Amino acid sequence: MKPIRIAPSILAWDLGDLGEAVNISVKGGADQLHLDVIDGHFAPNITFGPGTVKALRKRSDLRFDTHLMIDRPQAYAEKFLDAGSDILTFHAEVLDGPGFDELHRKVRSRGKEIGLAIKPETPLPGWAADRLDKLSTIIVMTVNPGFSGQSMDMAVMPKLEAIGELFEERGVATDIEIDGGVEPENVHEVVKRGGNVLVDGAGIYAKKDPVAAIGVLREKAERARAEQ
Ligand code: DX5
Ligand code: ZN
Repeated sequence: MKPIRIAPSILAWDLGDLGEAVNISVKGGADQLHLDVIDGHFAPNITFGPGTVKALRKRSDLRFDTHLMIDRPQAYAEKFLDAGSDILTFHAEVLDGPGFDELHRKVRSRGKEIGLAIKPETPLPGWAADRLDKLSTIIVMTVNPGFSGQSMDMAVMPKLEAIGELFEERGVATDIEIDGGVEPENVHEVVKRGGNVLVDGAGIYAKKDPVAAIGVLREKAERARAEQ
């Protein structure tokens, strides 16, 4: 079984103090750091770019999971690799099979991992289903991209379940990463449907004790896994 991994999303922390967001994730024992890059075109917010990722890279060796919510990812992939991203995730809505293949070659030639993300209303495209073996992760978004602190969209659950079943049938090792509104209270809903990487912004960084919140989320997720 794929291990449970906790990926705090720094978007929910004070954007003027992101170094501290990294420290918190390290102290809490997070498995990777989720970095939300938004360009104001693909989604209605503007966050940060490769310069910020590069600056944070100096703070720790934590796996950097960069989620590119941008319109022209081809133009920036290289810059985010140079900045120190370990996993670069692109949105399916702005790609097609050949476009993905080109990015896959670029990312793998740098020895890094590639992911694909889908918005709540986007089905897994046929071209992506044909390329599962190339993916390290699929991000199933459970909120519309843009902001931290939204509630999980439960209408995504049938799609998540179908993806979980497809991955099981195919026997692929691809992670299923859940992004949006994950909380200790609902984590069982996504773990029982195959989710194993749990992105969490507000459920960690908006808590009184964010270091402890990482452990709480992990414990709830592991418990949900054990009950399966
Ligand atoms: C939304 C981002 C998410 C977000 C998650 O566009 O992709 O990663 O920061 O934050 P929470 O967990 O607060 O929904
Ligand atoms: Zn994200």
